[in-house]
Amino acid sequence: MVEAAARTRDLSQARIAIDQTPAIGRHGRTSNQERAEFATAERLLPGGALGGNALPGDTRFVFARGDGSRFWDSSGNEYIDYVLGSGTMFIGHAHPKIQKAVSDQVARGTHFFAYLNEQAIELAQRVTPYMRCAERIRFTTAGSDSTFHAIRLARGFTGRAKVLKFEGAYHGVHDYAQLSTAPKQSTNFPTAVPDTAGIPEVVQDLMLVAPYNDVETLTSILAEHGHEIAAVIVEPIQRIISPKPGFLQAIRDLTRQHGIVMILDEVVTGFRYGLGGAQEYFDITPDLATYGKILGGGLPVGAVAGRADIMDQANPSNKGQPGYVYQNGTLQGHPLGCAAGLATLDILEEPGLYDRVFAMADKLRAGLQSVFDDHDMGLLVFGEGPMWHMLFTDRVPQNWRDITATDTRKLAAFEAEMIRQGLFVLPNNRRFISIRHTEQDLVDTFEAADRACQTFKGH
Ligand SMILES: Cc1ncc(COP(=O)(O)O)c(C=O)c1O
Repeated sequence: MVEAAARTRDLSQARIAIDQTPAIGRHGRTSNQERAEFATAERLLPGGALGGNALPGDTRFVFARGDGSRFWDSSGNEYIDYVLGSGTMFIGHAHPKIQKAVSDQVARGTHFFAYLNEQAIELAQRVTPYMRCAERIRFTTAGSDSTFHAIRLARGFTGRAKVLKFEGAYHGVHDYAQLSTAPKQSTNFPTAVPDTAGIPEVVQDLMLVAPYNDVETLTSILAEHGHEIAAVIVEPIQRIISPKPGFLQAIRDLTRQHGIVMILDEVVTGFRYGLGGAQEYFDITPDLATYGKILGGGLPVGAVAGRADIMDQANPSNKGQPGYVYQNGTLQGHPLGCAAGLATLDILEEPGLYDRVFAMADKLRAGLQSVFDDHDMGLLVFGEGPMWHMLFTDRVPQNWRDITATDTRKLAAFEAEMIRQGLFVLPNNRRFISIRHTEQDLVDTFEAADRACQTFKGH
């Protein structure tokens, strides 16, 4: 595989010699239209940004359109997309089946409120057989909704208030999630560190934090606090860090032992590591699982799925009674999103699809590693299945502190260079590959990475 990647890269180097004008990337090309859009965004949006992420300096751009594995900015520059809507567009941009499903549905009405609709019922029927823990499912509108409601269900079920998460794990935007996702300073476990202003101290006191991949520390925290913990929430692959063999099963065993609800956050892994997600891939059955991203084919659909006795607390006919857990959202079960989700399943159920994308991801990692090695960059490319990352290190990280021990500033500077060269990667975060990335994308990626190394070393 490494040889194949090297051959592909030789090819791409031949191209560099012939064609000195890079086909992809920004290279200073900014249209008057995009300049005007930046100015409007800066005037009206906090920090000129739509959310918590803004690209630094000259790497920023305005998305104009996407197709398959690529997109164009509003200056007409082309990029290969390894961000993919933060992993949402596993099926690539503007898939013809999604276009048809959404336009057919919009002609029949966009949304009717969270009462029953045909698309949501059909989506529930189609997806639950793939979700091991799913005796019931409730659709939400995003991953954050899903984790928030899973936590409330766990609290209702156990009558306990505290929740344990792992250091470096991301579970969304709400107060119970924005603790110790990316702590700048290390504290002793299990103390939680807020990632944002605006979280009351009382919330902080309700959250406990453990190191990922460390059964011993988890065991001792649960021995002391297990009786007051409602849920342990875990990303099966924490950002990009794979679980050590037995780690997820140890969480399963310990949570059972302490009467704690195990929430597997499959917002990223769901439908990415196979139709059965991480539950099938790692052979693990949690009490609840949370979904988002791929489930709605690029539209806002999430879900909480799990054991009937926990989920049925949200039965609306019990409203007002003890033990009823309120779960709702104006936009949930959204027909457009569910129609896109159904079309996504049609695409993902094609035999051999996951084998192909896993093989493509292996090729991408091997090829990039060989480019970086040729330039003595000291970068390690790693990851499992359709997610990948790179760090200035010589060993694959096993927890958050392993990542912070690497030179993340230098990495951010190199990633900016990759973006300039037309490879859109999530700065300082893991990245994705879609089912629509092609051999040509790999050739162009290795060429762009090669240019990025040359430019980076030249500074
Ligand atoms: C594992 C995980 N859980 C939850 C979320 C929150 O999802 P959303 O951004 O859709 O609210 C994310 C978002 O990236 C995630 O990666």
